[in-house]
Amino acid sequence: MSKKNDDFFKEKKIWSTVKDNLLGCYLQPYFSKILLTGKPIIYIDCFAGKGKFEDGNPGSPIIALDIIKERLDVTTAKSPYVEANFIDLNYAEDLRTNLSKYSNIRIISGKFEDNILNLLKSKNGCNVFLYIDPYGIKALQSSFFDDFSNGQFNTIELLINLNSFGFIREACRAMGVKFKEDDVLKDIIEYDSTKLDSSDKSILELNEIAGGDYWQAIIHDYKSNIINGYEAEGKFVDLYCQRMMKSYKYVLNLPLRLKEGQQPKYRMIHATQHQAGCLLMVDNMYCRWEAMREIQTGGQLSFFETNVKEEICDTDTLTDDVVEHFSQYSRSISISEAMASFFVKYGVIASTKNVRDILKELEKQNRIVIKRTPSLTPQGKPTKFMEEKKGQSVIVRWIK
Ligand SMILES: C[S@@+](CC[C@H](N)C(=O)[O-])C[C@H]1O[C@@H](n2cnc3c(N)ncnc32)[C@H](O)[C@@H]1O
Repeated sequence: MSKKNDDFFKEKKIWSTVKDNLLGCYLQPYFSKILLTGKPIIYIDCFAGKGKFEDGNPGSPIIALDIIKERLDVTTAKSPYVEANFIDLNYAEDLRTNLSKYSNIRIISGKFEDNILNLLKSKNGCNVFLYIDPYGIKALQSSFFDDFSNGQFNTIELLINLNSFGFIREACRAMGVKFKEDDVLKDIIEYDSTKLDSSDKSILELNEIAGGDYWQAIIHDYKSNIINGYEAEGKFVDLYCQRMMKSYKYVLNLPLRLKEGQQPKYRMIHATQHQAGCLLMVDNMYCRWEAMREIQTGGQLSFFETNVKEEICDTDTLTDDVVEHFSQYSRSISISEAMASFFVKYGVIASTKNVRDILKELEKQNRIVIKRTPSLTPQGKPTKFMEEKKGQSVIVRWIK
């Protein structure tokens, strides 16, 4: 069901709360850490909305600005600098009103796709964070995301709300294939959803969004009943993330679903070049997943614990995955790098603590060597930490 997009801001829906929590809970540690790089931070909310919902709840701009203010108040960084930019096609005036009490902000009235390159042109050497929360998929051109990763910034991170099921529906339309799961979409309200027709132009547009034509084989399989719509969505997201990894080393996705057993229709995609950012996001996505599970089950305990992939999860299965992954490291590697690669490969199926605990156990069983620097505490006892931070490194190696 398509809705006029004005309704979106009437009251904040639970979907928006889950999304905003993912953003807000990440931005707190993100700003704390990134401020210490001493380089300017450019925060851009690329589809900013009104700033605030009509029921008084904060939208993504106010959530970010409150965190920026709070982090700037407590940071130990010398001359910290954060510039916050808000782009919206329809609501620049509302943004001006709703954000009037904040300083060092820029509001841009217009399209993300028409403004983003110009905005980033003068930001070489900065830390850039883009929050990309459109209604549909049309503005998500993958060539932009590739361009941003070309090394001109000190760091670049993207958090994208991808309407993945919407992509499959439009891909079917563009290829003249009947989309059989229309009824599945009726329980989520779509605002201003992207509509494409069956034409070569639409195919090219989808190629540009997906960053290739790999999605067409998925639609062929769907048409031939080799896979259903849910499997098509899952395959598309896997390949979309793999494609994004041509430009970003670490790409994670969190499926958004509000009912247990329901298939995801949206994914939150996080892309970064840095293992520390990836691991921060893993824990954040894992917490959000637990919060979503509470919503899904109404707080009732499930008989089986399931993970983000809706697979039954238990410590034995997780241990098998950890062993499979870490046994490839017969040469020493930083624990952060190995763990970030683990989560990119397996998904956010656990918290970083769960994996570190298993590694500790494997260390006790002499299956993995863990070299910590410093190796001794000030009292001369062996150190036991499992996390890398300033002045502390952890290197792991699998014992053959
Ligand atoms: C999902 S809403 C954003 C909600 C916002 N993140 C929040 O939490 O409050 C999407 C916004 O994108 C805006 N929009 C639509 N097309 C756009 C485009 N091409 N460029 C920039 N903004 C656009 C709409 O006006 C709408 O406010």
